[in-house]
Amino acid sequence: EDDGPDPEKHCGHGRGGMGEEVSRKEDKRFITGRGDYVDDIKKPGMLHCEIVRSPHAHARIEEIDGSRAMAMDDVVAVLTADDLLEHDLATMPTLMDDTQDVLVNDKVKFQSQEVAAVIAKDRYAAKDGAEKVEVEYDVLDPVVDAEEALKEDAPLVRDELEDQEDNHIFDWDTGNEEETQRAFDAADVTVEEDMEYQRLHPAPIETCGAVADWDPGKDKMTVHMTSQAPHAHRTLFSQVSGIPEHKVRIVSPDVGGGFGNKVPIYPGYVVAAAASYVLEQPVKWVEERSENIQTTGFARDYEMTGEIAATEDGEIEAVRVDVLANHGAYNAAAQPSKFPAGFFNIFTGSYDIDAAYGSLTAAFTNTAPGGVAYRCSFRVTEAVYLIERMVKVLADELDMDPTEVRRKNFIPSDAFPYESATGWNYDSGDYEKALDKALEMADYEEYREEQRRRIENDADKLLGIGVSSFTEVVGAGPGKQCDIAGIEMFDSADLRVNPTGNAVLRVGVQTQGQGHETTFAQIVAEELGMDVDDIVVEHGDTDTEPYGLGTYGSRSTPVAGAAAAVAARKVRDKAKSIAANELEAAEEDIEWDRESGEFHVAGAPDRSITITEIAAGAFMNHPDQEEPGLEATNYYDPPEMTYPFGSYVVVVEVDRETGEVEFEKFVAVDDCGNRINPMIIEGQIHGGLAQGIGTAMLEEVTYDDNGNVTGGDFMNYLLPTANEIPNFETGHTVTPSPHHPIGAKGVGESPTVGSPPAIVNAVTDAMSHAGVSHVEMPMTPDRVWKTLSEHGLDI
Ligand code: CDP
Repeated sequence: EDDGPDPEKHCGHGRGGMGEEVSRKEDKRFITGRGDYVDDIKKPGMLHCEIVRSPHAHARIEEIDGSRAMAMDDVVAVLTADDLLEHDLATMPTLMDDTQDVLVNDKVKFQSQEVAAVIAKDRYAAKDGAEKVEVEYDVLDPVVDAEEALKEDAPLVRDELEDQEDNHIFDWDTGNEEETQRAFDAADVTVEEDMEYQRLHPAPIETCGAVADWDPGKDKMTVHMTSQAPHAHRTLFSQVSGIPEHKVRIVSPDVGGGFGNKVPIYPGYVVAAAASYVLEQPVKWVEERSENIQTTGFARDYEMTGEIAATEDGEIEAVRVDVLANHGAYNAAAQPSKFPAGFFNIFTGSYDIDAAYGSLTAAFTNTAPGGVAYRCSFRVTEAVYLIERMVKVLADELDMDPTEVRRKNFIPSDAFPYESATGWNYDSGDYEKALDKALEMADYEEYREEQRRRIENDADKLLGIGVSSFTEVVGAGPGKQCDIAGIEMFDSADLRVNPTGNAVLRVGVQTQGQGHETTFAQIVAEELGMDVDDIVVEHGDTDTEPYGLGTYGSRSTPVAGAAAAVAARKVRDKAKSIAANELEAAEEDIEWDRESGEFHVAGAPDRSITITEIAAGAFMNHPDQEEPGLEATNYYDPPEMTYPFGSYVVVVEVDRETGEVEFEKFVAVDDCGNRINPMIIEGQIHGGLAQGIGTAMLEEVTYDDNGNVTGGDFMNYLLPTANEIPNFETGHTVTPSPHHPIGAKGVGESPTVGSPPAIVNAVTDAMSHAGVSHVEMPMTPDRVWKTLSEHGLDI
């Protein structure tokens, strides 16, 4: 039993433990160009794979002729669904139990879908070969909009499925419908707003890719791939291919950003593996940017109608939401299998609301499949957007300050653990403290006065102040609630101390840039009194790491971080027995001192021993009752999720002439419980806020009526650059998680989740005096200008 580090004191004790701003160990190799990404891998005899993609969104394939491609020098093979059928690899399961074509068998269902693959001796030859593959299509009418897709005469996307007579996938609901209706019937005030969370793409810098290498000598398949979940992918690979799992090795080397995009398995991986198996040579497949945006897992695409019932003085009595979800051509969302709408039912947010009801309908369309958790915990982003926007809509209706409405309704800090109306068990929180801090940092009251002045003076630029006080839910499991393809969502750590006192920590999660090689070492340093430089963290290789479910949903710290702490404590327990042997004392008299990191005899602090000396003892002089060596493994199934939170305040100027929005102030106060590395946390917040700005202002995957992706490359899918990013002012509060061994919650996703509503609230706030209640994302200048003009605010 251990209470863990004290939040008031945790300062790493000078050894790089909890709370110290340790420089990122991994950065040396990244900034010196020594990172090792999938596309850096070269193997003798390696072939290259290029995918032939459909130009049409909906079409029946009449014929595929690969003969002109095959006739080219250096082209080795042209694969189609027929070839894959021979090996029973023509389809693959999605994470939501749907079945997706690896290469199109019969009918194309979205633009750029995988139709054939060309394998050649180099990448250029593969690309030239792909251009020579001739495909005859019978083009069909597509449907790209979810509402249109559910109409009776809509083209049927999935006609190969028995019993599928329309494009409806599933209905889902949560909460108490009758109770919520009663609250609405009796309410003083009700508000309603339609809002869309547009289709986004996670857009990691590195696109997806793989190098598959079938070794016929060992009957072993090794796949180096851009994977956020190597072990889960190994199990799925084995199930799909029939190769026994112990003969499959997945290696996820350095990964250049994932953001949820690298959780699903994509056809390219399977084709590369199938080609390597058939040709008995290594095969590399790396997609291009437009292939990544147009075909791999998108995020969001929820059309939502939110409603709130409240008293006249702003007490929220009920919240209701109805959603139409566009899932694309396959149900390929990436989320725990028992949660068809992810964690959307946390839509009561940071507020103590008695009645809540949510309903959702999901539809197939002729668009790429997806619904991945883009830097968020499975649809919590959509939920936070909904409630934080609705609070602002209510505040405007009641002519109240939105911070007042928030304060009135916050779950009080002494009400935790708190069970929400939709069944979530919040671990801890102090929402008012974070809001107070953010308002103070943002000079809130002064900006409110300035806002009034500008309206009175008919100024050219209006001022808007937006707030969001969000709560996240991160760290899936528990395993009983959360599984991926049936595998419970625990995570793991394996800690081995060497005779010379340094150690290797192997973890089941994989990093894509979040700094795990540093922060996980800090956890061990804290828990064993070792120096952070004496611990190396390994991840991403299924042959050596313990089984884990991967990195997404900010689950690394809550789950694998906990496993690392528990494994270190197990080592500490054994270390006590060795210390007793070395110090010639009884084991129960040995105490460990977190401050000094040493073991000593109770009442005799000078009779002490370090972990380095203990490590030597474990290998050279182990006690008779103990096994030699010093190591431990922990598979951690979290008892609950963790609930990080924060308050963001955004001040914008809206140009009445052009509709342009400029950030005047951007304050983010986050609470992720006990902090492992404040510098890394700040980096996470900065990156996530940039992505939040991209969401609110710039990004959208769009389609025209023919199903052409019109937002499928970086000329049209606009990522924020340094030009669009303001100076962020960050702050924090610390409310430890009571059930996490080191009191930590996740943090990586808070800024992406929490910032879009703050930004939209700010822009609408600039115009709310003229009756503007909502502006859809992305809030491009033309959209904002139109809103200004419709409300007589333009000049
Ligand atoms: O799963 P993922 O790593 O994306 O998310 P996370 O657990 O929220 O962690 C993001 C980064 O912030 C990791 O390097 C964590 O170790 C670090 N972190 C921290 O220093 N202190 C916390 N309380 C939470 C995360």
